[in-house]
Amino acid sequence: MMNTDYPFLMIPGPTPLPDAVREVMSRPAVGHRSPEFKVIVRRVLDNLKQVFKTQHDVIMYTASATGAIEAALSNTLNPNETLLVLSCGVFSNRWAEMAKTLGIDVQEISVPQGEANTADSLREALNADVTKSIKAVIFVHSETSTGALNDVQTFTRLIREHGALSIVDTVTGLSADAFKFDEWDIDLAISGSQKGFMMQPGLSFLAVGPRALARHREQVKNPGFYFNFDRNIKAQGQDTTAYTPATHLIMALDVSLQMMLNEGIESMNMRHLKLRNMVRAGLRAMGLTLLVEDDNHASPAVTAVLPPNGVSTADIRGILKNRFNIAVADGQAALKNKIFRIGHLGHVYERDVFMTLASLEAVLYELGHPLESGAALKAAQESASIHRVMNAVSA
Ligand SMILES: Cc1ncc(COP(=O)(O)O)c(C=O)c1O
Repeated sequence: MMNTDYPFLMIPGPTPLPDAVREVMSRPAVGHRSPEFKVIVRRVLDNLKQVFKTQHDVIMYTASATGAIEAALSNTLNPNETLLVLSCGVFSNRWAEMAKTLGIDVQEISVPQGEANTADSLREALNADVTKSIKAVIFVHSETSTGALNDVQTFTRLIREHGALSIVDTVTGLSADAFKFDEWDIDLAISGSQKGFMMQPGLSFLAVGPRALARHREQVKNPGFYFNFDRNIKAQGQDTTAYTPATHLIMALDVSLQMMLNEGIESMNMRHLKLRNMVRAGLRAMGLTLLVEDDNHASPAVTAVLPPNGVSTADIRGILKNRFNIAVADGQAALKNKIFRIGHLGHVYERDVFMTLASLEAVLYELGHPLESGAALKAAQESASIHRVMNAVSA
């Protein structure tokens, strides 16, 4: 029988939608300059600050996260100024390409796919820059294409010591892993609605610190129009947006932010860590190899895994989808058809991980991969119970 339900998304975005967030889309139209909508805009902007852990402005754009990254670059850098890009996968590579398109000079430090960037190579590049030609450094918190996790706190400290602006793509990092914009003295940070915010795609968020704002105001000659920091910040200061926003997405964000703050950002971080550890334990118990082997550099949002020898990722993903109605993601670029990625981000809980591991086990069994039946679930259960003990001790 054909399953007509939408597949359950175990991909690293878009992530599953809570009913309360989904239902907002059927509300009547609302005037975007109306007093009632202004109340929502104000609340959403205040709550976004709590998620980024900042007192500074968080600009909300009607654009996907790539738009907000472009805003970060074009508002703070002039053509021919130098941006250092720490590359570790598809998304960091995209920022290098974007900067080049904007006429910015790019210096790049790369690591093999599946590895995180290192503080040593960053320190070395910054120390070598005696003329201070590097004006900003961009890196990805959680590299969604590989599941590698970068050390935001250490990197931003090194960048601060050098004097360049730090730009952090925390599109799949925020809410899954600790992130403290003010305490870590970060200059710019970007996230997107369809990730840890557990809502529909279409909005992006850009936290702007004072040094970034000063550079935008005093040094950047062509900061653009739609994404212009000042235009957007000025409007937001009046509880509105510079241009017609995606009203219903903002109302959905209002609901999702209330859910996030009710759960608590630290609790969200713990939940994602638990899910990550359950997934990793379960996959290892099935005899599978993880692309990011080192747990210390593994993203709490997504896990990339290699298929067993002789088994194709297309078959694994296809059967998971057709038989169990669970979507997991393919690899991207050079990793396409070489890995598959299990997202455990946003509105995802233990039940979903057990369901995915059990279904994956059935798929692999059918595809002839030798495994001990139930081992993955047992490993995941043990991992979850360790978290419960840890939580009880810390409570
Ligand atoms: C780490 C990271 N950065 C940036 C993006 C781009 O976001 P968007 O597709 O919303 O433009 C993504 C999307 O998956 C991502 O995972």
